[in-house]
Amino acid sequence: MENDKKIIFSATQPSGKITLGNYLGAMRNWVRLQDDYNALYCVADMHAITVRQNPADLRRQSMELFAQFIACGLDPEKSIIFIQSHVPQHAELAWILNCYTMYGELSRMTQFKDKSASHADNVNAGLFTYPALMAADILLYGTHCVPVGEDQRQHVELARNIAQRFNSVYGDVFTMPEAVIPKVAARVMSLSEPEKKMSKSNPNENSYVLVMDKPDAIMRKFKRAVTDSEGGIYRSPEKPGVSNLIEIYSAVTGKTFEEVENEFAGKGYGDFKPAVGEAVVECLRPIREETERLLADKASLEALYRQGAEKAANIAYKTLRKVHKKVGFASR
Ligand code: TYM
Repeated sequence: MENDKKIIFSATQPSGKITLGNYLGAMRNWVRLQDDYNALYCVADMHAITVRQNPADLRRQSMELFAQFIACGLDPEKSIIFIQSHVPQHAELAWILNCYTMYGELSRMTQFKDKSASHADNVNAGLFTYPALMAADILLYGTHCVPVGEDQRQHVELARNIAQRFNSVYGDVFTMPEAVIPKVAARVMSLSEPEKKMSKSNPNENSYVLVMDKPDAIMRKFKRAVTDSEGGIYRSPEKPGVSNLIEIYSAVTGKTFEEVENEFAGKGYGDFKPAVGEAVVECLRPIREETERLLADKASLEALYRQGAEKAANIAYKTLRKVHKKVGFASR
């Protein structure tokens, strides 16, 4: 990259459909950052196979996610947008980094603990070493900033530890990355169990809103959102459901929490919940429509992701060559 802008990297897994949490916590911020940084964004399909996927679904979801990246406003002329498995250097560096990642560190990862509990019949090595692959994603590109939601902070911290360990042996090979977490909507909560994060892997469809949900589905989910019996519309640790709705409304309208609380002072949930639903419908509508339009032209999407992978591989290849030399692999 021929300018002195800093580098950002982030990714989303194509395991299932993306949620309002993915959009507000991460992808929306990627769009804002792409002017000020050299940005790389990827569809993390290699991460997705750490839990069993239906092959046809995974292929379709990867394509859909790639289309959504563009529909959200990522511009393939400004940013490098690609599919992880198309750039083999990710797997190659991940193997090397696995040898610089400690068993104890991986055992402490909250996501590993959660996923190994929810997929007890398939606690595979990939699920365990997943953070080393994520570190490879980040470190391959000399990344300075990693815009993610709160739940990925621990993995970015681990990537820093791995980079530091490697650098302390071999000199300054990797740039130290930093997580960039948004102030609002860093952790969008479930609509049915507001003490848990909104997640596409929750079996209850009413707990999450998908970016591709139609307006009537979005309205239904918000009208059913769990609140409390107290009735006031303000943020409080005792009111996780209402606090989450205020945060979502604030994130999609750009109003501060205080402005939202003033707007609904003296009103009830019967006014508030549909208002949040409508604001989310309007926020997601252009993305859904544009995704549908893009998916209708598969050939153009394929051309775009091939071009993205080629650009990414050109950078990744250089980092990997340096790493091979440092660790002592014979030159090719
Ligand atoms: P993933 O696919 O689970 O989520 C993608 C992004 O969405 C954020 N997110 C949320 N933000 C707010 N509220 C929520 N309820 C919510 N749910 C998800 C996540 O924090 C994330 O930013 N391991 C990553 C993907 C990945 C990656 C990387 C990220 C692979 N390689 C390298 C950064 C850098 C993951 O599973 O995200």
